[in-house]
Amino acid sequence: MALIFVINGPNLNLLGSREPAHYGHDTLETIEQRLTDMATGFGHQLEFIQHNHEGVLIDLIHAAGKHEVDYIIINPAAFTHTSVALRDALAAVAIPYIEVHLSNIYRREPFRQHSYFSDLAQGVISGLGATGYELALIAANHYLTQPK
Ligand code: DQA
Repeated sequence: MALIFVINGPNLNLLGSREPAHYGHDTLETIEQRLTDMATGFGHQLEFIQHNHEGVLIDLIHAAGKHEVDYIIINPAAFTHTSVALRDALAAVAIPYIEVHLSNIYRREPFRQHSYFSDLAQGVISGLGATGYELALIAANHYLTQPK
């Protein structure tokens, strides 16, 4: 059994009502429930984190490093495009991660088309809506269960 952190950055607590043309109609709770059901099937434990403050997310990533978290699925939201500090936290703990975006950031404004996270990620899923989190969990399970 692996421990996987699912981290969501600022404003993602508003999913369901926030700009549905970009982010869909699912709430974060609905997404997390689907992921929990999947993780139960895989035999993994998920811990969900959503926070709007950069420093809190950094502290939680440090905690993930101390508590032997096996994998991270992260949607850094707006911090994707701004946060060297969050990137450095992930680099410091060296936990493998997948970067997820609900919207296709490459079809949006130019400032969204650069990510501080993608080059360190195992993979990036962008533009597939809430399904992206489920695909990330499938990929994480594949990575965690394959012989190293
Ligand atoms: C997002 C894309 C970001 O540009 C934006 O700031 C978000 C959500 C996405 O999931 O599509 O908050 O990460």
